[in-house]
Amino acid sequence: MKQERITRTDKTGHSFDMGISCLEDVPPLLEMYRTFSPRPASQGLPPEDSETCHNWVRNLFTIGDNLLAWRGGSVIAHAALVPDTNCKSGEFVIFVDKKERNLGIGTHLTRFTLERYRQRGFDSIWLTVNVTNYVAVRLYRKVGFIYCDTECYERTMIIKLT
Ligand SMILES: CC(C)(COP(=O)(O)OP(=O)(O)OC[C@H]1O[C@@H](n2cnc3c(N)ncnc32)[C@H](O)[C@@H]1OP(=O)(O)O)[C@@H](O)C(=O)NCCC(=O)NCCS
Repeated sequence: MKQERITRTDKTGHSFDMGISCLEDVPPLLEMYRTFSPRPASQGLPPEDSETCHNWVRNLFTIGDNLLAWRGGSVIAHAALVPDTNCKSGEFVIFVDKKERNLGIGTHLTRFTLERYRQRGFDSIWLTVNVTNYVAVRLYRKVGFIYCDTECYERTMIIKLT
């Protein structure tokens, strides 16, 4: 079922839309990943091989909640939340098209997801990130994620929602 989209403004003053996606949004999302760079960008994702990438996206639509950002008819960013089995926490992933990075779009998608799951009664959201992914770490810390492990390379971050 098609969900309503909301309009937001990026750091340059240009507008873009965001909305929870449904299966019919998979083809435009795959189009974003077809030209995504670098591929993989982080922790093996999005997968380099096209078929593996298609399967990864389809799996996220089966097991998760997928939020897309759009400009015109094109998908420019994708965030997904995969609930843990207790449905009180979940894993967050996010990918912004290279041409659209550093415009605040990732921050908008992340904050939207946090608010959505706070309203749904989730306790927390977690993610894993490579410590050298400075842009991602900057974004996550800005919105309130903190490190919750003692690893030194690929780390887990969490944000409490309650
Ligand atoms: C990580 C990613 C999702 C961020 O999305 P985005 O839309 O570019 O992020 P935003 O513009 O909202 O925020 C980026 C922040 O990093 C900051 N930043 C940019 N370059 C930076 C650098 N070299 N070091 C530290 N911070 C940096 C920006 O200034 C901004 O912070 P600010 O809003 O406080 O100024 C995007 O870069 C991406 O898709 N990367 C590839 C995939 C990936 O790594 N996903 C995360 C997996 S864990």
